[in-house]
Parts: sequence; C-alpha cells; structure tokens
Amino acid sequence: MAYTNIVVLTGAGISAESGLGTFRDVDGLWTKYDLNDVCTPEGFARNPQLVFDFYNTRRSHMLEAKANPAHFALAKLEEHLTTKKAEFTLVTQNVDNLHEQAGSKNVVHMHGELTSALCAVCGYRGEWLVDMEPGTACPQCAHEGLIRPDIVWFGEIPYHMERIYDAIARADMFVSIGTSGNVYPAAMFVEEAGRYGAVTVELNLEPSENATAFSQAQYGKASEIVPDWVEKLIS
Ligand code: OAD
Repeated sequence: MAYTNIVVLTGAGISAESGLGTFRDVDGLWTKYDLNDVCTPEGFARNPQLVFDFYNTRRSHMLEAKANPAHFALAKLEEHLTTKKAEFTLVTQNVDNLHEQAGSKNVVHMHGELTSALCAVCGYRGEWLVDMEPGTACPQCAHEGLIRPDIVWFGEIPYHMERIYDAIARADMFVSIGTSGNVYPAAMFVEEAGRYGAVTVELNLEPSENATAFSQAQYGKASEIVPDWVEKLIS
C-alpha cells in the first residue's frame, strides 16, 4: 500500500447495522422529529425537555450498542498504518462512541459526543453518561439549567475544523463512509481533498448527494464493504 496519509469521514450509515438509526433514510430520525426542534439552539430554548428526552434516548441506545465489522475494520486500518509510520485521521459526524469501542484511537468528533456535556454559561465540557434534566447544575460553575448535550447543532460551528482541514490538505487518500453528503462543511471535504490531489473513495449503501465528486466508489452494507475494502488496501 503506497498511501502515507489517509483521512476517513464517517456518518450515521456506519453505525446503522449496530442498531443506531440514521437521519435521512426511510424511518430515519428526521422523519420522526423536526430537526429545528431537537438540533438547534432555538429548539433547546423553546423546549429543553424535548431536547433532553431526544438525546437521553439516543445516549441510552448507544450505551447498549455494539461496534460492527465496519468499525473494527477501520481500527485495524489505523493500527496497520501506524506500524508503517503513515498517518490516519478518522473524522466522524457521529456522536456515538462505536469507533472508540472498536479500538480506533485518533477519532475526531466534529459534531460532538453523546457522552459529553457542555455548559452554555462557562464552556465546561466533560464526560456525561447519565440522563440530563432541565435544572441540572454545571459541575464547574454550579449554574443551574444550562447544561446541555455536547452536540454541534445547526447554526453552530463544528469542532476541530482546523485540524480536519490540515489533515485533508496533506492526505493522499480521502474516504467517505455511510454519509448522505447533505450536511456542510463535511459534505465538501471530498472536493477539498480532490483539489489537493488525493484519491477520493465513497463507501456507502447507495450513491450520496455528492457521489460524482468521488474518483472511486463501492456500494453495499458498511459491515460488508468496509472490511473488504480495508483487506484489499492493506494486502
Ligand atoms: P444520513 O442519515 O443523512 O445518511 C446516512 C447515509 O448512510 C445514507 O447515505 C445511507 O444510504 C447510508 N447507509 C444507511 N445504511 C447503511 C449501511 N448499512 N451501510 C452503509 N451505508 C448506509 O446521515 P449523515 O450523513 O451521517 O448532524 O448525516 C450527517 C449529519 O446530519 C449528522 O451528523 C447529523 C444530521 O443532522 C447533527 O446532528 C449535527
């Protein structure tokens, strides 16, 4: 394998076979909830209980979920590249912890994490594994009622953008897995990587919104096509 710097972007499709719902598929979360109600600062201000219930349910589902062969394959790829002194950055839009559960080390959660809380008053961010309720006090500033899920909502700036763009600028391969290509800035990473000369690969159940921007593609279930693709790449 000649690649020395691989950036992988994952989305909800990689966790679908672990039982965690996607957003835009038939029966996806955005067919049951209005994202303006549960995924914006304005929605939180209007009805915090609804937002807490939404993320409390997602957190408890996640704590029961098991990583699937696609997550394990990416952990294996990272281990392989590390022994070859090559770089590997796993950027995920997912707020679950299944990449970490599978053994991935260098995971960049650009949309936040279900296992973390954010205080809207003092900026505290810390591990949070239990249900959140309106009125919960911040462990740092003790302010009540403004602890919220540490999730990047629509209208907010995703985390770690400088680190992500730096990795993309140096990548010789960019791989997008299980994402529909609807949400920016993640949806434009492929064009950015292509401009810098990287080989761009899409692994998804079906062609995404920006499928034509990729130089290679393979379609099918992540639990099948990702391990297969990793084996071919490292053999
Ligand atoms: P989407 O629900 O938009 O897209 C999921 C993609 O996964 C679709 O293209 C499906 O075809 C594909 N898919 C479904 N099952 C699959 C499987 N078993 N194997 C492989 N692919 C499969 O989810 P995302 O693109 O991740 O943001 O959504 C991006 C962002 O929109 C999310 O991070 C979230 C959401 O609003 C926030 O919450 C801030």
